[in-house]
Amino acid sequence: MANDQIEAWLQENRSFAPSADFAQKSNVTEAEYGRAHSDPEAWWLEQSARLTWTVAPTRSLDWNPPFAKWFSDGMLNASYNCVDRHVDNGFGGKTAIHWIADAENEERVISYSELQQMVARCANALLALGVRAGDRVAVYMPMIPEAVVAMLAIVRLGAMHSVVFAGFSAEALASRIQDSDCRFVVTADGQFRRGTAALLKPAVDEALLNCPSVESVLVVKRTSQEVVWNETRDHWWHELVDSQNSTHQYESFPAEQDMFLMYTSGTTGKPKGILHTTAGYLVGAATTYSNVFDIKPATDICWTAADIGWITGHTYIVYGPLLNGVSQVMYEGLPDSGGRDRWWRIVENLGVTILYTAPTTIRTLMKWGTSHLIGHNLSSLRVLGTVGEPINPEAWMWYREFIGGNNCPIVDTWWQTETGSIMISPLPGVTSTKPGAAMRALPGITIDVVDEQGHSVPNGHGGFLVVTRPWPSMTRGIWGDPDRFAETYWSRFPGTYFAGDGAKRDDDGDIWLLGRVDDVMNVSGHRLSTTEIEHAIVGFHLVAEAAVVGASDETTGQAVVAFVTLKLSDDDQSQDHAAIIEQIRQHVSRVISPIAKPRQIILTPELPKTRSGKIMRRLLRDVAEQRALGDVTTLTDPTVVSMISGLMEQHSTED
Ligand code: PRX
Repeated sequence: MANDQIEAWLQENRSFAPSADFAQKSNVTEAEYGRAHSDPEAWWLEQSARLTWTVAPTRSLDWNPPFAKWFSDGMLNASYNCVDRHVDNGFGGKTAIHWIADAENEERVISYSELQQMVARCANALLALGVRAGDRVAVYMPMIPEAVVAMLAIVRLGAMHSVVFAGFSAEALASRIQDSDCRFVVTADGQFRRGTAALLKPAVDEALLNCPSVESVLVVKRTSQEVVWNETRDHWWHELVDSQNSTHQYESFPAEQDMFLMYTSGTTGKPKGILHTTAGYLVGAATTYSNVFDIKPATDICWTAADIGWITGHTYIVYGPLLNGVSQVMYEGLPDSGGRDRWWRIVENLGVTILYTAPTTIRTLMKWGTSHLIGHNLSSLRVLGTVGEPINPEAWMWYREFIGGNNCPIVDTWWQTETGSIMISPLPGVTSTKPGAAMRALPGITIDVVDEQGHSVPNGHGGFLVVTRPWPSMTRGIWGDPDRFAETYWSRFPGTYFAGDGAKRDDDGDIWLLGRVDDVMNVSGHRLSTTEIEHAIVGFHLVAEAAVVGASDETTGQAVVAFVTLKLSDDDQSQDHAAIIEQIRQHVSRVISPIAKPRQIILTPELPKTRSGKIMRRLLRDVAEQRALGDVTTLTDPTVVSMISGLMEQHSTED
């Protein structure tokens, strides 16, 4: 469908009826919403029976705003729930992970029994290294099964993983290790990207120069590249883990045992360690995975095409699928490793039934064109999911038509690192879908869209998205900073969780997400803080001042655009501006990650400021998107903006 047709279609506010897409009998029915709504705490306690407990909980929620406890008198082991219990139930021979490498001819099929032994060996190795309950263990790994094994082994011991996306720089890794005093790191020598081996361990070596808390590093040999070795600190996985006993007697931990940290960008320069605890998180992961994707464990082949370095990988590669005992695909490579039809070959060859990915990837696949789909049978697919950023209706329709063959419901799932699991999404076969809308809060979740004063907005209006009641997988806090936790999420509308997103209720009352309302950007589904990038840029020796904004981008959703003033000494005046821009981009890449590299850097003699000295980012956003400029009357010098607009235009033509 062309854009104008979609627009016309949307104008009529039409939707796809649930039954039109879905022949299966759904796991839940419409009645579930009402049941959950009438007594959410009782409903969640009922859902807790999805887990196997050593001591079953009798309590549901203990709420001491903004601090929640769920199922607090229960005892369990997270790793037992993901792995061992399926073996105990007779599913040991079932495939847990079908791992597909970046290279064409490399794969591993790991059954639940094999996974159990791998996790046991890893847990024994970590014990031998001194890992104990409550310790923080950083995981800086490529997309290989050992990453999942390490996570499961860590939580098996009651310790916490802090997975850092392997695309982050040594500096970003160091700051995350330091913030939570990790004692151990699990990593690999390197990783493959489109057939090329890239090193990973040197970033760990560099990070650890400034991390005295780290005692041992466990290293998977993935690429066999030459790496520097520290005899007292470093241990090869294939030596230490593989020689361990393949059984490990798990211990039970309290429901509220700290489980993991996931660092994410906020509105300040410092990433925050989002804390999740055990049982509530697992109940959220297990319940939402089953309901949102309508999982049929006996027959589904699930594929969450995300990285374990982000929350999507945690909840819907590791915990949700394994708790539900499904067979899943884990893919190491990029969408075009080995050709632009690589994904479709994987779907066809393995008979993938559930595919979950991000709008930015869908837009990239769409840009590559449908010729790559020709000859591939995608009819095994039955539910398609999207996450991470608002999906534009055109990409939604393409996904539905070309990948889903017009008969797979699309679940546009809204959630966050902080929410732990999906909060707003259609349910296959139960809820209607609309291109670009996340539709409805899930059973057990109560959301609202409110105005500045915290009042619910009527249908047809927009406002701030809030969650009005606690839910099991909600973050329990920001590591080491309870004040920031209370301030960031619970102070704007007291007692209510402020998500930081704008949302609209349409005339039917269905929810559309509108993007962030704070200084957080969303680039290719990666959450980045404008302030953090500004700090990085200002750290470059030639930069005086920087302002970063997120500008719309056709493929990546938003793109980083930086406005920079330089401090050039007389000797520096002759420097080539293009070279400086490139140096700044490289600097950001080194300090944070290549994903934070500005798409555009505009060098300007001045930044637009209010009379009180604040940089007017709103105006810069307008400039970056080449929109008509709004009110400039509060500016000290309105001519600055037209000058920057001029520079921007010049820059665009140079591009
Ligand atoms: O702005 C929302 C956007 O991603 C943010 C959360 O980012 P992160 O914690 O990195 O987690 C991403 C994966 C869960 C949200 O505040 N976001 C996430 N899903 C959607 C979305 N925006 C619109 N529609 C979505 N489906």
